[in-house]
Amino acid sequence: MAKNKESGYMSARESRRISRENRKITKEYEKRYKRKNVPESEYLTTMRDPANALEIEGLRTYFFTDIGTSKAVDGVSFDVPRGKTVGVVGESGCGKSVTSLSIMQLLQRPVGQIVDGSIRLNLGEKAYDITKTPLDVMQKLRGNYMSMIFQEPMTSLNPVFRIGAQIDEVLQLHWTNHSDSEIRSRTVELLQMVGIANAEGVYKMYPHELSGGMRQRAMIAMALACDPRIIIADEPTTALDVTIQAQILDLLRSLKDQINSSIMIITHDLGVIAEMADYVVVMYAGRVVEKGTAEEIFKEPAHPYTIGLMASKPVVGKRVEKLYSIPGKVPNPINMPDYCYFKDRCESCVGRCAGGYPEEIRLSPTHSVSCYLYDVKEDEQA
Ligand SMILES: Nc1ncnc2c1ncn2[C@@H]1O[C@H](COP(=O)(O)OP(=O)(O)OP(=O)(O)O)[C@@H](O)[C@H]1O
Ligand code: SF4
Ligand SMILES: [Mg+2]
Repeated sequence: MAKNKESGYMSARESRRISRENRKITKEYEKRYKRKNVPESEYLTTMRDPANALEIEGLRTYFFTDIGTSKAVDGVSFDVPRGKTVGVVGESGCGKSVTSLSIMQLLQRPVGQIVDGSIRLNLGEKAYDITKTPLDVMQKLRGNYMSMIFQEPMTSLNPVFRIGAQIDEVLQLHWTNHSDSEIRSRTVELLQMVGIANAEGVYKMYPHELSGGMRQRAMIAMALACDPRIIIADEPTTALDVTIQAQILDLLRSLKDQINSSIMIITHDLGVIAEMADYVVVMYAGRVVEKGTAEEIFKEPAHPYTIGLMASKPVVGKRVEKLYSIPGKVPNPINMPDYCYFKDRCESCVGRCAGGYPEEIRLSPTHSVSCYLYDVKEDEQA
């Protein structure tokens, strides 16, 4: 963050200067994103592995705010294999939602912009790089190929329209050659699929007439309309009480087997990850610090942050005086250090941790970690 040297605070003049510069930068991004009739060749790409539904590589998403540039997502890479569930976990503010909003191109524009990296979406015969895909094409991809389930159902549901009409509308956008009655039957079928017994009745109801759990089911039905290739669920159960939470998780798990979609589930709850995910991505301060299969992450967590997260989770049958809590707090995304972002909170810190940000080290073909403790090369040289 730019600050006045003497006072330590930024002057209004400095803030105006940053704001002017930001407008210049974001205007260019916006112009590019809103172009019409962009040739497909500009955003066509090739998947590194065709078995992946989504490949995120070196993603950087910044917010150009009046007090400086917030590097909310700063070089994130991970894959979402086809038909699998990937759990993204990390403390509040670590960039989980910004990653998912980047994939959907639903960032708060013009402040939020993808500034680097690629997001390759597998469409079957071809693949698109979302970071280069213009607005008009994105509108067709959302819903058709990818959809999102938010923490708060009312983010997706419109309070003044009936549930059925809202799901019909999503279907109509993508099923252009189907009759109204075919669309209505599909909506009722979707409502039944998400466990709503009185689907015909709920079809005619307004969102406020439903309980929180039912609204979340309706939103999941909406997300499933058109069989998306990838469903992103951002804290889908956080706003619900524990019994309803368990029901929604059961629903997502059973849907996973019924549909052929990949699921990316975002949560700060390791219990949810343990129940749902095939692969786990651990994020810290806008970066991926560790990733691997669920078994690798739960049985052999490597990064001190992952180990800390595990230790702060209650375990059934194990009595402890006080649950562990990771000391300190996440660094300010506007002023990130040039060494390991976890260093100031790390209890395993060694001398070389003060060097540059640690590189990603492979522990197995599926398991990798960014931490100097596993940098054998350095050990050998020492
Ligand atoms: N619209 C915005 N303008 C400026 N900064 C933003 C904006 N949205 C997010 N950020 C910043 O990006 C960082 C990552 O936020 P994000 O919402 O992705 O966190 P999260 O991991 O989803 O946390 P939570 O678990 O609380 O949902 C935060 O530091 C946040 O302040
Ligand atoms: S690199 Fe060092 S400071 Fe960072 S997590 Fe590993 S041991 Fe801790
Ligand atoms: Mg979030």
